[in-house]
Amino acid sequence: MSNLLIKSGRIIDPIQGIDKTADLLVKEGVIDSIKENIDTQEDTELIDAQGKIVSPGFIDLHCHLREPGYEHKETIATGTAAAAKGGFTTICAMPNTNPVADSQAVIDFVLKKARDEGVIRVLPIGAITKGSIGKELAEMSELAHAGVIGFSDDGNPLEDDNIMRQALSYSSLLTLPIINHCEVPSLSIGGSINEGWISNRLGLKGNPSSSETIMAARDIELAQLTGGQIHIAHASTSGTIELVRQAKKKGIRVTCEVTPHHLTLNQSAVLGNGGMSSEHAVLGPDSYDQNAKVAPPLRTKEDTDALKEGLRDGSIDFIATDHAPHSQVEKFCSFQEAAFGISVFETALGSLMSLVHSGDLSMAVLIEKMTSAPAGFLNANLGNLKPGTTADIVIIDTESEWKVDSSAFVSKGINTPLNNTVLKGQVIKTIFGGKTIYDAMDHAHD
Ligand code: DOR
Repeated sequence: MSNLLIKSGRIIDPIQGIDKTADLLVKEGVIDSIKENIDTQEDTELIDAQGKIVSPGFIDLHCHLREPGYEHKETIATGTAAAAKGGFTTICAMPNTNPVADSQAVIDFVLKKARDEGVIRVLPIGAITKGSIGKELAEMSELAHAGVIGFSDDGNPLEDDNIMRQALSYSSLLTLPIINHCEVPSLSIGGSINEGWISNRLGLKGNPSSSETIMAARDIELAQLTGGQIHIAHASTSGTIELVRQAKKKGIRVTCEVTPHHLTLNQSAVLGNGGMSSEHAVLGPDSYDQNAKVAPPLRTKEDTDALKEGLRDGSIDFIATDHAPHSQVEKFCSFQEAAFGISVFETALGSLMSLVHSGDLSMAVLIEKMTSAPAGFLNANLGNLKPGTTADIVIIDTESEWKVDSSAFVSKGINTPLNNTVLKGQVIKTIFGGKTIYDAMDHAHD
């Protein structure tokens, strides 16, 4: 394990309230000190971070690593390498694998694979119900014992009210959150994009925003009834944010996350223009991008505005990627048939930086929502640069412009609606436990 001296970077560590230009010394994989000027040392690699940001490594509470069972979409090896390229040092894997992670055996498998083949920390999420089909609770205490950080049937909304009530009651005993994918199936079924003018124009069945909001309201009600902690995954509607805002005021145990794509893209991204267009994009010959098909769907500008406001006022606790890689066969087909999901790890920072460059979000809040806030949710000593903490660090160039080229992705999933768009802001280095696991210079000619 090498020693590192990171010189002259702008160090941002929300937990310690640090935002200043300084040097950071890492000794034997652990943060040693942050000072204005640290002399170069023997046996210590020097990293020049002048003009760059030095942040705790990002933490992602929601991703799909697909192993076991769907290794053609992603593996723990490729998924963790893609995450490292995106600046992440801790990621939480959703249980919708095959078999579903509803037993200790599958959790043990994921943890062992991550230790053997992963390049960063992988924390598993266990299923709420057996097979994630919503009929019968999984052995939640066995899963808690195996090391899950929460429970979710993500991909499938947990529809049965009484099972959700029971799950929240158990979660309260186990002091672990229930993470729900909120969509009322009878409203969202068959809907592949947001219900609105674009779904009408393309003749596709839409998914109304009320399908999310109604289930979020039910979950908040049941969290109040049981005292359990409900976490709303990938919030996409203004209505959901308002419900969470009001519930938090009442002291109900509700938390909520938002993805980079729901924050930065709206429904017009399905028209195949790279997603950065206005609400009133003109239909062109390439007006159809299955890579923008995601659940919940990309919504309207009013929704993205509400999501940004939710991040600023704390109604939304943190940003999570919902990295959902799929193979080309599953995406390169008709819109109705295409799988839901976007490959996000490698574009997350670049797309989120657009919010900083536009003045919608400060760099400090962006870093907080990707480091200290998710660490707080995990109740773990991660996401900070305190002396004695494991040296998980990301170095960022906020000004560097680069063109997304999905063919150069490390992830097996090249399903991004951002292909060929230019993003401003890039991960330069990712350091995990004091070891450099990603260096942009090594990929300069990819
Ligand atoms: O778009 C999505 N894809 N949303 C989810 O909730 C699940 C995910 C997947 O597993 O592909």
